[in-house]
Amino acid sequence: MADTVYLNGVFLPLAQATIPVLDRGFMFGDGVYEVIPVYNGQAFRLDEHIQRLQASLAAVRIRNPLTTVAWRAMLLQLIAENKALQDQSLYLQVTRGVAPRDQAFPPESVAPTVFAMSMALQTPSTALVQSGVAAITALDIRWDRCNIKAISLLANVLLRQQAVDEAVAETIMLREGWLTEGSSTNVFVVAQDKLLAPPKSQHMLTGVTYDVILELAASHGIAHLVAPVSEAQLRSADEIWITSSTKEILAIISLDGQRVGQGQPGPLFQRMYALYQDFKNQYMRHTR
Ligand code: PDD
Repeated sequence: MADTVYLNGVFLPLAQATIPVLDRGFMFGDGVYEVIPVYNGQAFRLDEHIQRLQASLAAVRIRNPLTTVAWRAMLLQLIAENKALQDQSLYLQVTRGVAPRDQAFPPESVAPTVFAMSMALQTPSTALVQSGVAAITALDIRWDRCNIKAISLLANVLLRQQAVDEAVAETIMLREGWLTEGSSTNVFVVAQDKLLAPPKSQHMLTGVTYDVILELAASHGIAHLVAPVSEAQLRSADEIWITSSTKEILAIISLDGQRVGQGQPGPLFQRMYALYQDFKNQYMRHTR
């Protein structure tokens, strides 16, 4: 982790960044967050992440403490402060602020707490991209507002640990027989040469990477369908992919111990992975 972080208007060393224990983020998990990848000093899809942050804040009725221009400026300065890191993963979080413990909202006068830090971005190694990874399934035990990027992640923590305990990379969730997403990723499947993606809903986070994948499919003539994906479709898929800002795209080659497709990253995965890397590089040159 790099040293300089942002807390409530000030850039300071991580070790000096402290918040009161009555912060509602600490008390209730009452806040929202974003994770933004930075390649070579360029934030990837920054505006989309800021827009999703705004949507999360509005959904939980926390006042947006900064303008879009101020968010951009703060994050660009944070990137510059941590430029010793080649690629970065920005984490930012806004909580409902510090107030005596009571579930109801505090008075308007209580300012949200704003925190942001930069970590080294660790995308999957070439070896993992080439080999693919294993996953398990589990019931989606989360709430009904999964489109909000909330910091209260207890269910995700338990689901992700289930994967770690079983020595696999991700837990893929099913709700009433339908695919929702992974514990910290979106999920795509390939069946009969067509890419299938569950539609945006309150049961999954609208991933910034998810949107990029669907845009690339559309612009490169890859057959795709955004429609609910059943458990049967997931289990019989030729390919399964997981996507996120930090994992980019990874192929799932085994699900609950059963081989997926040929048991190796499939041809459509190879194609999309290459398109994603090209797009990423092009986008970064373009915004420089
Ligand atoms: N997680 N679904 C969930 C539940 C997630 O937590 C994430 C991202 C995604 C993918 O979203 P995006 O493509 O915008 O990164 C889907 C981040 C990386 C995290 O919590 O660390």
